[in-house]
Amino acid sequence: MPDPSPVFGREATSRPSRASLRTAVVWDVLKDALDRRVEATGKDSLDVLDTGGGSGNFAVPVARLGHRVTVVDPSPNALFALERRAAEAGVADLVTGVQGDISGLFDVVGRESYDAVLCHGVLEYVDDPAEGVRNAVAALRPGGSLSLLAAGLGGAVLARALAGHFTEARHALSDPAGRWGAGDPVPRRFTAEQLAELADGAGLDVGAVHGVRVFADLVPGVLVDTEPGAAEALLKLEAAAAELPSFHAVATQLHVLGEKRG
Ligand SMILES: C[S@@+](CC[C@H](N)C(=O)[O-])C[C@H]1O[C@@H](n2cnc3c(N)ncnc32)[C@H](O)[C@@H]1O
Repeated sequence: MPDPSPVFGREATSRPSRASLRTAVVWDVLKDALDRRVEATGKDSLDVLDTGGGSGNFAVPVARLGHRVTVVDPSPNALFALERRAAEAGVADLVTGVQGDISGLFDVVGRESYDAVLCHGVLEYVDDPAEGVRNAVAALRPGGSLSLLAAGLGGAVLARALAGHFTEARHALSDPAGRWGAGDPVPRRFTAEQLAELADGAGLDVGAVHGVRVFADLVPGVLVDTEPGAAEALLKLEAAAAELPSFHAVATQLHVLGEKRG
């Protein structure tokens, strides 16, 4: 089966697009985690929950691996787009969209019902991130995998500074929510330590922390789009840097992967 990843799956050519460069590291880590769950559970296909899964950037590729995916999202528009995208990808029977909120997750899905839970780009927007992570972990069966992705503080500081917004960069550094000012569209950002602490406090054994989009958002597009081989080389550089704790501090996003204790 061709790789259904967000990196290559929707591309006309095998050259990674700018957008797909942003998801490559997370997809690779997630796919390995799902493969390990398949092996550990002995099941052919897993029950996967994508909280705040939106229009299915990850849910649809996960379904294309053969897993059953439930997407819980408060946005009817996102759920409509999800339905259409799943149908186009031929996985409508594997993807279920449910309108709901991570804080009231168990109004719409069961506890301890999933082999893997994704919570990507959601904690930034919720009132109580600790509750969000607790609910995501509570939806997992024991030993299940949580994939947590959230905006990183250091990446935003670096991006503001490189754009010449030095006061905003300094503001983000000292702001309790990591925001650079009133116009900042992101309500909250995290350090790797904060995210890992939230996960650990919710009952997760943290297996890996990755820095995501360390360079991709900073490099001028023209260098990536016009230089032969540049996109592939950047992809490899992102993958190598993602593993290194020293780069977590400047990543645009942070990814935490772990397994539910017990
Ligand atoms: C940045 S998008 C990320 C979408 C998807 N997870 C991805 O990685 O492409 C944030 C998503 O979180 C959803 N969202 C916002 N608040 C939420 C909440 N309280 N509970 C669950 N999802 C929420 C939004 O509707 C949106 O689809």
